[in-house]
Amino acid sequence: MKHTKIKDLLTSTNTLQEVNAKGWVRTFRNNQFIALNDGSTINNIQCVVDFENTSEETLKRITTGAAISVTGELIESKGAGQKYEIQVATLEILGDSDAEKFPMQPKKHSLEFLRENAHLRVRTNAFGAIMRVRSVLSFAVHNYFQQKGFVYVNTPIITGSDAEGAGEMFKVTALPFENTPRTEEGKVDYKKDFFGKETNLTVSGQLEGETFAMALGQIYTFGPTFRAENSNTSRHLAEFWMIEPEVAFNDLNDNMDLAEDFIQYVIKYTLDKCSDDLKFLDSRLTEEEKSKPQAERSEMTLLEKLNFVLSTNFKRVSYTEAIDILRDSTPNKKKKFNYIINEWGADLQSEHERYLVEKHFKCPVILFDYPANIKAFYMRLNEDGKTVRAMDILFPGIGEIVGGSQREERYEVLVEKMKALGIAEEELWWYLDTRRFGSAVHSGFGLGFERLVLFVTGMSNIRDVIPFPRTPMNAEF
Ligand code: 4AD
Ligand code: MG
Repeated sequence: MKHTKIKDLLTSTNTLQEVNAKGWVRTFRNNQFIALNDGSTINNIQCVVDFENTSEETLKRITTGAAISVTGELIESKGAGQKYEIQVATLEILGDSDAEKFPMQPKKHSLEFLRENAHLRVRTNAFGAIMRVRSVLSFAVHNYFQQKGFVYVNTPIITGSDAEGAGEMFKVTALPFENTPRTEEGKVDYKKDFFGKETNLTVSGQLEGETFAMALGQIYTFGPTFRAENSNTSRHLAEFWMIEPEVAFNDLNDNMDLAEDFIQYVIKYTLDKCSDDLKFLDSRLTEEEKSKPQAERSEMTLLEKLNFVLSTNFKRVSYTEAIDILRDSTPNKKKKFNYIINEWGADLQSEHERYLVEKHFKCPVILFDYPANIKAFYMRLNEDGKTVRAMDILFPGIGEIVGGSQREERYEVLVEKMKALGIAEEELWWYLDTRRFGSAVHSGFGLGFERLVLFVTGMSNIRDVIPFPRTPMNAEF
């Protein structure tokens, strides 16, 4: 008999039929009630075992984590909390799980402990829900762009260019190690390491994406990106996924409109498709908030926050206006910021971004027109000669979720900028070709996918929204 997914059983309209379910035991109560989960939904199906007619041996093997197959009638449940249950006729143990040794005990585990068991944490309610939400969100990303006629581009993972010019790259080394090119002193010659060239893992697909936008009009990338920054924060990963749309003939305002519409679409889509998982994550967060002092608790529940973002316009504020606000602000009665901004031109720290979003405007904020010298080389210089058409989108509880800009389309201005920053023209000759042949205004942005998943799931550490986090601390798996 073919097994039916538990999600389908629980929403079936057809009771009193013989069904088969396969899954992993979550709990087993009173030698009678199995809570069975197969990952198709946050909800378990209750399987009622006829313990009088089941061998002692089998009953002992129904332990948390064991894989089992049950066959029996699907009947309406008399117990509270579930609509249907399976009246078990036959039960087969597919794979035992030693109750003493199985790390995912039916109790609350700390997130740190679960991170050390990333291969098993997905068997818990919270991580099952997070990973299903993540999957639906990524489908929503493709849906949005595909419906609008954007072309999905796979930009290279191994690349010779440092798109952000920040030097935070992982080198790519050809193995076997003995065969790698050496300098005269016998050290590995990274400049020649990739079959005679220097390469690294991509920090962004933007530059390659731009070349495609200048032919296909509207494109997007969605792939892994790598940053070798040694930041052990709850917002940074060494390997994360980024979504980067790039659109020919869009200026900075069009870019803001696109980003806002896109974010609202994917959140709405996920709210519609993942209501059970989001309800679960909502109550998980509410529970967690209770352990915080009143003053630090969020004013909104997760679902309220998600609905709020859908129904509000993101506040658009220039960097200069933001600096004026921050100069005059004291985040709490006693203390100013840890890092006090006095000068126009200083980069904002996450405490400032969070203040603007959470305390001052109390809604998502798009900051634009940043000082040129704190942003990347490719951004369009404004007429004032000192700011660039950059935009960062700041989210409550997250800080920066999107970074983007209108690109410098003028060949001479771009070359000047590269010279000033010591970026060799020969290295980016192909990028400069887009400005040499049929250049035009164009814009794009990058959204850090895990920061979006963080926001939607209400989790507070980015390591908990990616299957196997890579950070300076976690690279076990
Ligand atoms: O602001 P960033 O560095 O911008 C770019 O890479 C541009 N090339 C994007 C573009 O215009 N096409 O990164 C974009 C976003 C950030 O806003 C943040 O959400 C995320 O990527 N991000 C990270 N997420 C997790 N861990 C890290 N270490 C991240 N660094 C950036
Ligand atoms: Mg940025």
